[in-house]
Amino acid sequence: MDLLLKGRRCLVTGASAGIGAGIVEALTREGARVVATARRKDLLESLADSMEVAGLERPAIVAADITEIDGVKRVARDAAATVGPIEILVNCAGGSRPVAVEAGDDAWDEAFAINFTAARRLTTELLPAMRQARWGRIINVTGLMEPHFLNAALSAKAALHLWAKGLSRDLAAEGVTINSVPPGRIESEQVDRLYPTDERADFIKRYIPIGYFGKPADLANLVAFLASPLAGYITGTVIPVDGGMSQFAY
Ligand SMILES: NC(=O)c1ccc[n+]([C@@H]2O[C@H](COP(=O)([O-])OP(=O)(O)OC[C@H]3O[C@@H](n4cnc5c(N)ncnc54)[C@H](OP(=O)(O)O)[C@@H]3O)[C@@H](O)[C@H]2O)c1
Repeated sequence: MDLLLKGRRCLVTGASAGIGAGIVEALTREGARVVATARRKDLLESLADSMEVAGLERPAIVAADITEIDGVKRVARDAAATVGPIEILVNCAGGSRPVAVEAGDDAWDEAFAINFTAARRLTTELLPAMRQARWGRIINVTGLMEPHFLNAALSAKAALHLWAKGLSRDLAAEGVTINSVPPGRIESEQVDRLYPTDERADFIKRYIPIGYFGKPADLANLVAFLASPLAGYITGTVIPVDGGMSQFAY
C-alpha cells in the first residue's frame, strides 16, 4: 500500500533511541522528509549514519532538551527552517517514572514535563502551520492505562490521552488529526534497562498473550499509517500496540 507520505515533512521526538528511532526509519522508508530530535546528538548522528548505510535518506537532526521551553521553541523553529513547515508531528519522547507513595512535587513535575507538557507545548508551536495548510497529523506515543504500581509517567500519559481527545474534536473539521498509540512492551533503551533478559520470560507469561516483546517497527508501522493521508477519518483515538497485553476497554 502506498501511504502517500512522499515528501511529507515530519518531526519525531525521542528519536535517539528505541521506538522513536524506529519511527524515524519507518517514515523515511515511506519517502517522508524527517527531522529527528532528542538530547543526545551523538546517537542521532549514529542513527542517521546507519540509515544512510542502509540506503535511506539521512534525517535532519536537532538536538535539544524539550522539557525546557527554549528547547521546544528551538526544535520547532529549526525543524521548520530545515525542511519547511512541519505537517506530521510524532510526540514520542518520554519514559517510565516509578515513584514512591511519598514522592514530592519535584518527581511529579519532572515526570509530567517530559511525558505531557513537552508534547503539548511542541504541538501548540506547530499547530498554526498545520491549521493554515488545513492538513496535519499529530501522533502521541503514550502508555497502557493499567498500572501495576505507582508510575508518574502513566498519570502524565493519561493526561495526554484526554488532552489529545479534546484537541481532536476542536481540529477535526480543519483536516488535522490527533491520535495516541500506547505501547505494551517494545524493545528499547529503557525496556532493555528495566527488563533484564532473564526476567522477561515471567513477565511475558503473565501479561503478553502474543508471547514476546515487540520491536520498534511493530509500533512504527501503525504510526506511519496514522500519519498518512489515508488515515484522515481516524482522529481522537487510542490504539494500543501491545501483543494483547491490555485487558480493559479504552
Ligand atoms: N518501550 C516500551 O515498551 C514503552 C512502554 C510504554 C510507554 N512507552 C513510551 O514510548 C516512548 C518511547 O519509549 P522508548 O521505550 O522507546 O524509550 P527510550 O528508548 O528510553 O527512548 C526515550 C527517548 O526520549 C528521549 N528523551 C528523553 N528525555 C528527553 C528530553 N528531556 N528532551 C528530549 N528528548 C528526551 C530520549 O533521548 P535523549 O536521552 O537523547 O534525550 C530517547 O530518544 C516514551 O514516551 C515511553 O514513555 C514505551
